[in-house]
Amino acid sequence: MARKSSIFVALFSIASVGLVYRAASDSATTLSPQGCRMSYMSPSYLVQSHFDTSWTPLAKRYSLLLYREVGWEDNQSRGVPVLFIPGNAGSAHQIRSIASSAARQYYASPYTPSPEITSRAIQPLDFFAVDYNEDLSAFHGPTLDLETAYASSAISYILSLYPPGTPIVVMGHSMGGVVATSILPSPNISAVITMSTPHQLPPARFDRRIAAIYNSNRAALATANTPILSLCGGAADLMVPSESCILPEAVDVGVYRRTVFSSALEGCWTGVGHQVVVWCHQVRWRVARAALELGAVSTPAERGAILDRWLRDGRSPPPALGYPTPLHLNQANYTVLPPGPVVLRALREPGAVHLAPVPETGSPTKFVAYVSEGSVLSMGPYHASSLSVSFHLCLSKTDDASPSACEELHPSSLKLIPNPSPEKPFPVPHEGVDESDGVVVFEAILPGRKDGEHRWVAIAYSANEERGWILGDFVEEPMVMKFSVHDLLHKGVTVPVNPNKVHSDIRLPSLLSNALVVYRVGATYASDQGCDNPLLTPLLEHTPPSEAHFYPLTHARPLLLHTHSGAPFTSHPHTRGLNLTLYASPDCKVASLHLRVDWRSSLGRAGARYWTAVPGWAVGVVAWMLFSALGEYERGAPMPSVSDSLSVFTRATLPRLLGATLAISLLPLPRDYVLGNGGEIVFAPLAPLVLLIATGLVTVSWWVLCITMWPIRKAGRVLARRKADAGITRNTVLSMLLVLLLVALIVPWQVAFLGCWSIHLVTCATHVPAPPGDAPTPPPARSPSPPDRRPALRHPPHDAEHALLLLTWLLPLAAPVLAVWARTLATAGLGAASAADHGVWSVAPYLVLVDFASWTRDALFQRDRVEFVSARWGLLPPAVVAFLRGARHTYEVFDWVWGAVAVLVVLRVGPRYWGVSSWSSVLGSRAQSPTERTLVFKTNRISS
Ligand SMILES: *[C@@H]1O[C@H](CO)[C@@H](O)[C@H](O)[C@H]1NC(C)=O
Ligand SMILES: *[C@@H]1O[C@H](CO)[C@@H](O)[C@H](O)[C@H]1NC(C)=O
Ligand SMILES: *[C@@H]1O[C@H](CO)[C@@H](O)[C@H](O)[C@H]1NC(C)=O
Ligand SMILES: *[C@@H]1O[C@H](CO)[C@@H](O)[C@H](O)[C@H]1NC(C)=O
Repeated sequence: MARKSSIFVALFSIASVGLVYRAASDSATTLSPQGCRMSYMSPSYLVQSHFDTSWTPLAKRYSLLLYREVGWEDNQSRGVPVLFIPGNAGSAHQIRSIASSAARQYYASPYTPSPEITSRAIQPLDFFAVDYNEDLSAFHGPTLDLETAYASSAISYILSLYPPGTPIVVMGHSMGGVVATSILPSPNISAVITMSTPHQLPPARFDRRIAAIYNSNRAALATANTPILSLCGGAADLMVPSESCILPEAVDVGVYRRTVFSSALEGCWTGVGHQVVVWCHQVRWRVARAALELGAVSTPAERGAILDRWLRDGRSPPPALGYPTPLHLNQANYTVLPPGPVVLRALREPGAVHLAPVPETGSPTKFVAYVSEGSVLSMGPYHASSLSVSFHLCLSKTDDASPSACEELHPSSLKLIPNPSPEKPFPVPHEGVDESDGVVVFEAILPGRKDGEHRWVAIAYSANEERGWILGDFVEEPMVMKFSVHDLLHKGVTVPVNPNKVHSDIRLPSLLSNALVVYRVGATYASDQGCDNPLLTPLLEHTPPSEAHFYPLTHARPLLLHTHSGAPFTSHPHTRGLNLTLYASPDCKVASLHLRVDWRSSLGRAGARYWTAVPGWAVGVVAWMLFSALGEYERGAPMPSVSDSLSVFTRATLPRLLGATLAISLLPLPRDYVLGNGGEIVFAPLAPLVLLIATGLVTVSWWVLCITMWPIRKAGRVLARRKADAGITRNTVLSMLLVLLLVALIVPWQVAFLGCWSIHLVTCATHVPAPPGDAPTPPPARSPSPPDRRPALRHPPHDAEHALLLLTWLLPLAAPVLAVWARTLATAGLGAASAADHGVWSVAPYLVLVDFASWTRDALFQRDRVEFVSARWGLLPPAVVAFLRGARHTYEVFDWVWGAVAVLVVLRVGPRYWGVSSWSSVLGSRAQSPTERTLVFKTNRISS
């Protein structure tokens, strides 16, 4: 009865974790599917053996490779150097797709440079890549530091092979981008291109050193003069939530920083997975091309312009115009179009000019035109057709309403959008967009009209073939609609659009725009039949501040609007406003859009961002439980068992904590606190939900521990052998010194911590008398302890069990570093592995506690008379820190727990560990108080 609540919470959290996991892993395919062509190459890697220990001692551990495209370039050629830095567990060979593309763009055929490229003083690229033996850099700051040191020496070495003053381009994938940023500022790096790099938030938050690296990188990102471009994969990237890929705003106005989402990257328009970004053809050839072209320019501004040109998204400024094309009209060679949208197809009269009259009613502010497959102001798909279009504004000063003077219109925005086929999914899986695909969108602001003036927009084109079409229209003010949250949550909202316009700007300023919210969009068409093969498939563009996503309004799949621009823990935790643009053609009229919240995907988004909060919060729950269990014990009751504590916690404490976390998440706290939502009301219920799940997982973890202890207990019975309660022995001192020496010299303290945990697991397993039924049905500690069958066990080891639970939830701190250490040991040998964290102090309190528990017959935590205030209060700060800061700065929770355990060990274990009964006797005060706890050996279930 009493435990029903904790069982219920545990089952609830198992179910929610399963649900959230499913939703999160589906989101890659539902939110932003991937359509990438595979890339092919003929790689070879030349090891740079001259880069040896005379350059850096790390040369023993890591290596530097030079990529060469077999059959296209020889081994010696020296052009412009590029350094590639792989990410966590990444390989130097990941450079092959980009390097191969650069070689095949430079060489028209094997060993013969392409004339188009050599005519512009572009040199071939030499791709170097550092090989880190697939080290796990995401989990371990010191490893990241080593990688930075090695990459920095590699740059010095590489530049020594080139004439003085040669700059180097640095590319980083994932954590490699963090390494690249750590090298900045450097005068020798001409540009940095990072791919799927978590710039803002470290993916693993257990390491203090990583947090420090991110802090110093923040300064480099804000001020370093080197242009930095960050390519992000969007929702298809399940490894790194893409909001942390967005570069923070630069402090200096002059420095170039650009974040480009692959869903917005012109000619790519697809979500790209975390590893895929290095080989996705549509991305890699553009990265390679940008690197090639960077070699031909020399100032940061020119480099920025090259990056903007080859890695364009719709938000890049329109290209600078050359001289305006003059347009001369006479009666013979122009056609005046009827009012309404302009549709020009089968463009077969070269030199023809079409005049679209500017409507004199209403308030047209903008002229918008779409040009399919062709180019405007030399902007178009990479393999554009011969169609070239220009737009002019013609005026008549006289009353005869015929145009006299024309002037070329300068675009306010010029970009490329996709034109997906209505029959196929978008983007086409495993294929994606072709280099000739795309529609140029030309937008120009029309100047104010003077009285009596007639105005036309003249559309002039030249074309050699009949490919492509032109659509144009005059656009009114954006449509602004406001909704209440209530409307949205209950039935969704309907946005009517003007079906006769080819272009509609829709602003929904009251809607929440956040990484945690996904909207599902549907469209209704003006005609019931829908559309049959329209010129332009109706296309919805969603443009949050740093990205753009395109959704064809076909019925192929649900359209899920999502963003990364407002996200927990980032500088914009809550933003509002959804900006949508609808591109349509007159042969396919959209009448309205319907939006509602997609709960399932939203849940998946929250799950992908908040799973890191669970370990920290669970430590908070465990610390709180130990705190209240000790309180009970110190008030004279027996120490409650873990199961009892869990049920007391869920029944009595949890409801209040849920209320408290809800209240705290309503406060506009700084972005690092609680769940990083800065007090947004809509997200406030997430904090209690995470707390509930963390509590449930603590219960589940206790069941798992009990199930694990069961076989150990069985085995332990056979080998039952208890040490005498002899206090500290020479043996213990020796083994303790040995362990500490090992930690100080060879193994990282995390290994010793894992050892502590295992020893304590065995201690707890062999302490507890097995319940008569044996089967460890959850919760196993339910059955009363049987009569004392083994006299050696004098106390109910409930405090040891609490300690076991605490140690278990501290394992996530140690586990990643253990993995790093084991990997280093395997790849680089003991020498490199011993350069680990030797914080003897980090593990000493746990060692003493665990060793004491293994031989004592007393309670672990007897209150000492010298404590004016019970040392159990030390457990409260870790719990509070866990809920306030644990989601973002998990390592702080572990530090605070360390402090609390150290205090408990020094005050309560220390004297008895050294064979003295208590600090009071050490300090010579009166003997033990009569209230000194005697050990109560009876069941201590707490009835409800
Ligand atoms: C280039 O290096 C590769 C790998 O070391 C080698 O197999 C090849 O023969 C070399 N080619 C030339 C032209 O030196
Ligand atoms: C880096 O640039 C600085 C300044 O231009 C130059 O003095 C230095 O030699 C360069 N380093 C290398 C390794 O080329
Ligand atoms: C229209 O005709 C005039 C005179 O014949 C010529 O100068 C002008 O270039 C023509 N315009 C175009 C766009 O071909
Ligand atoms: C929407 O567009 C307007 C006008 O361009 C802009 O001021 C606003 O910041 C945009 N909102 C969002 C969320 O991007």
